[in-house]
Amino acid sequence: ASSSMWGGRFSEATDAFVAEFTASVNFDKRLYKHDIQGSIAHATMLAKVGVLTTDERDAITQGLTTIQQEIEAGQFEWRIDLEDVHMNIEARLTDRIGIAGKKLHTGRSRNDQVATDIRLYLRDEISRTRQILHRLLVGLLDLAEREASTIMAGFTHLQTAQPVTFGHHLLAWFEMLLRDDERLADCRRRVNRMPLGSAALAGTTYPIDRAYTAELLGFEGICENSLDAVSDRDFAIEFCAAASLTMMHLSRMSEELILWNSQQFKFVDIPDRFCTGSSIMPQKKNPDVPELVRGKSGRVNGHLISLLTLMKGQPLAYNKDNQEDKEPLFDALDTLQASLRAFADMVPALKPNREAMREAALRGFATATDLADYLVKKGTAFRDAHEIVGKAVAYGVQSNQDLSAMSLAELQQFSATIEDDVFQVLSLEGSVNARNHLGGTAPNQVLAAIQRARSRISTE
Ligand code: ARG
Repeated sequence: ASSSMWGGRFSEATDAFVAEFTASVNFDKRLYKHDIQGSIAHATMLAKVGVLTTDERDAITQGLTTIQQEIEAGQFEWRIDLEDVHMNIEARLTDRIGIAGKKLHTGRSRNDQVATDIRLYLRDEISRTRQILHRLLVGLLDLAEREASTIMAGFTHLQTAQPVTFGHHLLAWFEMLLRDDERLADCRRRVNRMPLGSAALAGTTYPIDRAYTAELLGFEGICENSLDAVSDRDFAIEFCAAASLTMMHLSRMSEELILWNSQQFKFVDIPDRFCTGSSIMPQKKNPDVPELVRGKSGRVNGHLISLLTLMKGQPLAYNKDNQEDKEPLFDALDTLQASLRAFADMVPALKPNREAMREAALRGFATATDLADYLVKKGTAFRDAHEIVGKAVAYGVQSNQDLSAMSLAELQQFSATIEDDVFQVLSLEGSVNARNHLGGTAPNQVLAAIQRARSRISTE
């Protein structure tokens, strides 16, 4: 016979390569804690409904607790021939406690067991991910508060567009990431449903109490249909989608940091401890952290596509294909958490260069729209004002001066309605202060938005 777990009907041992090829223990052993947690709850339920004795339940609980300690002490011998984390732990339990260990799998299948383990694990990891994300969100708000009235060039098409405050720009990052946090919280609600009790696919003949097991495990509810419970992995796909979106946002932030940290922009300095040097060019200090995060976003996108593709052709219910769910999911989690951590550490340490940001805002006619709005307020139609300011800009390009550097007489060549009060409008402070409404870039609006933002970070 082959494996002691299922070898009864087999007449030859599993091919050595096939055993290795079908095994998952090398990567699913990271589920050990949640596998044990699920097994203890299952045994407790079985004892409650009279399928196990309380002595058997206690022996199982104690045995599994000891096994968890063995694993955590690095004393557990993981065996490839036992295929996966579930059978490794069950075999060890039977070694330790004998016959009661052989009863643990009553009314259960690895199919509902593994789906339960992944959900328990992912539920915890989503919470952990959100804690790191919250640290980053708070770091962004603190930096935004310090930079609420710092003026920088705002861009469209990566061309100078209008002055904005640096704090306002950081609040844009905050909004992106807060939506990601909401998506993670929402995803967690659907993860937090219990497959256990579905057994292989059809349910079980024992008088199980699923609601009780769910309560023991802190699940919000049970998966209502046994076929669906053991076969779908949409919750993992949903997590990868939320992770991909978050990584996409981190990647855009990275791209900006890389640009801003360059000699051409000099908007921010990324402290040395987040950078590395070149083995040939002695002067180099490279923004490796944001570059890596930008690069890593690609692999999380890949995991999302892997999982979608993994599921799309599977008939109900469980198929071994599903064993392929773990590596993409685990790597998406690891990559997301590491990237968030890198950002949470780096953002509070960023050193903004207020002078360089201001200089950039003074180039590229950033207040041209303000001049057009000024003319509109003096009675010119907007489209005409646009044309007039366009001509003033062309003059500025040719005479190499910003609108705010021109004399009143020069400006009046383009419109006689221009008066002395134009210079306040053309100033950087005047420009940002004038955008004084909810969601606008004015420093006082930024400060108010930060106050609201602090209470919008939800720990639910
Ligand atoms: N290692 C398997 C997985 O990851 C556990 C479930 C196996 N079930 C089965 N009937 N082969 O999906």
